[in-house]
Amino acid sequence: MKAVVLVGGEGTRLRPLTLHTPKPLLPIANVAFIERQLDWLGRYGVTEVILSIGYLPDAFIRHFNGDSYGEIHLRYAVEDEPLGTAGAIRFAADGIEERFIVCNGDVLTDLDLGEMMEFHAARKAEASIALTRVLDPSAFGVVPTREDGEVIAFVEKPPAGQAPTDWINAGTYILEPSVLKRIPVRLNVSVERETFPRMLEETGRLYALQSEGYWLDIGTPEKYEQAQHDVLLGCVGFPPAPGAVERSLGVWVQGSPEIAADALLEPPCLIGDGAVIGERAQIANSVVGKGVKVGADAAVRDAILLEGASVSAGADVKRLAVTGECELSVV
Ligand code: GDD
Ligand code: MG
Repeated sequence: MKAVVLVGGEGTRLRPLTLHTPKPLLPIANVAFIERQLDWLGRYGVTEVILSIGYLPDAFIRHFNGDSYGEIHLRYAVEDEPLGTAGAIRFAADGIEERFIVCNGDVLTDLDLGEMMEFHAARKAEASIALTRVLDPSAFGVVPTREDGEVIAFVEKPPAGQAPTDWINAGTYILEPSVLKRIPVRLNVSVERETFPRMLEETGRLYALQSEGYWLDIGTPEKYEQAQHDVLLGCVGFPPAPGAVERSLGVWVQGSPEIAADALLEPPCLIGDGAVIGERAQIANSVVGKGVKVGADAAVRDAILLEGASVSAGADVKRLAVTGECELSVV
């Protein structure tokens, strides 16, 4: 099966982390987010993924260094200018003539795609949307349905307090190729604001499945931080990162970092391969990236240190996500 992953957004809410690294390539517990998503798609038999890219295309091409990721064949559909979510699907899925999957490239989920495919087929839907429940639906696409899942309305970002339900678009769709014909070529079109609402007017068969699985849009600093901790706690399966070994309860280690015997590691935490943790350093509720150096007597709490970062001896680092090539002294 083929899937289009929308990774064209600029990730403005995650700046400065996304100034040089597109959001899908930011690591979640030391694994590029997109790889987690590709692993999930692969588990449901997806063998070809088209990455729908606008922002920093070279970063993706460098990251994968070719046209495959494990068993998955990768293709890159690079937009000259943003085409919006539907325009991007139309452009990336050009030539697809069978049922396919579309997903937003910033959603961490263990949604049961097998169940969704059965749901879609059983209803002979033209498009199916996965739904998840959130406390505040106003930042999302809100989707009330009938009992059998038929979509009644699609309301993107309703004003606070006015959402008709707290079930929202989870950003995963199964589409028949006929949906592509509904989207004009090479125009900026939104699937949420234009294509889906128009399908409802034109009696397209639009259905939505409520899912209780884990779900998180990683697009804000708070959610990006939450995703790391949720992964460490096993919300999307164990081990939290490939090759990670649990050295004591909730303390995970990848490869062979150098950890001083008297360093204090408090769960949950993950120490990446080649990291150096100095004497008496404290790491608590944090992710330490590959090769990161933490000096003696430093304290790193509730933090995410990405590859290339280093922490000086005695520094106190708290509630921070830090990306490449920077040294933290006193924070
Ligand atoms: N290729 C391409 N081109 N991708 C795009 C473009 C574009 O012009 N615009 C946005 N995207 C990608 C983003 O990279 C992201 O992966 C996805 O489309 C959704 O865009 P966001 O900017 O993250 O939208 P959102 O989070 O505000 O809302 C969307 O996701 C919610 C769930 O997280 C909507 O689909 C909502 O309906 C949904 O509830
Ligand atoms: Mg988003």
